[in-house]
Amino acid sequence: MKNITLHTLAQMKQEGKKFSCLTAYDACFSQLVSEAGVEVILVGDSLGMVLQGNDSTLPVSVEEMAYHTACVKRGNQGALIMADLPFMSYATVEQAMDNSAALMQAGAHLVKLEGAAWLSDTISALSDRGIPVCAHLGLTPQSVNKLGGYKVQGRENDAAQAMIDDAIALEQAGAGMLLLECVPSVLAKAITDAVTVPVIGIGAGVDTDAQVLVLHDMLGITPGRRPKFVKNYMTDGRTIPEALAAYASEVSDASFPGPEHGFE
Ligand code: KIV
Repeated sequence: MKNITLHTLAQMKQEGKKFSCLTAYDACFSQLVSEAGVEVILVGDSLGMVLQGNDSTLPVSVEEMAYHTACVKRGNQGALIMADLPFMSYATVEQAMDNSAALMQAGAHLVKLEGAAWLSDTISALSDRGIPVCAHLGLTPQSVNKLGGYKVQGRENDAAQAMIDDAIALEQAGAGMLLLECVPSVLAKAITDAVTVPVIGIGAGVDTDAQVLVLHDMLGITPGRRPKFVKNYMTDGRTIPEALAAYASEVSDASFPGPEHGFE
C-alpha cells in the first residue's frame, strides 16, 4: 500500500470511495492491519480498557499514548497513523500543543480529541502549526461520567441539530477529519453530507465515509458483552490476516455495517 495521507482520504470522499480504520497498539498488529489494506490505524486510548484492563479510558497518560504510537509506527506499512490525545491532555491550548507534539514526534500523522465546538480554538492552534486534527463527536468516552454511561447520543432533535452545528464549526476551525461514535444512522448521514472533510463512524451506520472498530472487538477476543455495532470477523476458519482483509473489503464495498449494527 502506498503511503496514505489526509489528502488521499479527502480525495476518496470526493470520489465516493469508502476507507477503513482499525485500532492497533503494537508493531505486530500495526504491520498486519496495514498489510491488510486498512487505510487508517488508530492508536486509541481504548488501550486503557483493552490492554490495561481499566473500566474507562480516563487513566491513560500521554506517555503511554506516545509509547504505543512509537510501537505502531515501527510496524506500519503505509497506513495513516492517528493517535488519541488522552483525558485532560488538551484542557488548555498550551497543553494540547505540547501533548500533540509528543504524539507527532512518536510517529502519529494526526491527533484525535473528543469534544464539540468549544474545541475550535484548540483545533485552529494545532492546525495552524501543522498538526492535523480529527474531532470525535457523539459518544465521547472520556466524558463517560458526565454522559452517565456509554449511551447513544443525538437522538433528540435539539441534540442532533447541535451536533450538526458542532461538526460544521469544527471543520471551519480546521479539523481535517471527524469521527462519530454511537449516533443515529440518519444523523451520521446528515453530518457526513454537511462537511467536506472525511467522516469516520463507529455505531453510526453505513453512510459515513469510513468505519472504525476496536481491533480486539472485531477479532472476537474482547471479554464480555459485544456492543451492537461490532462484527466478529474471526469466523469461517479465517486466520487473523484473512479477518482483517475481510473487514477492509466489507467496509470498502459498504457491506459492513449492516442495518443491525446501527442505531435509530
Ligand atoms: O479509543 C478508541 O479506540 C476510539 C474508537 C472507539 C473510535 O476512540
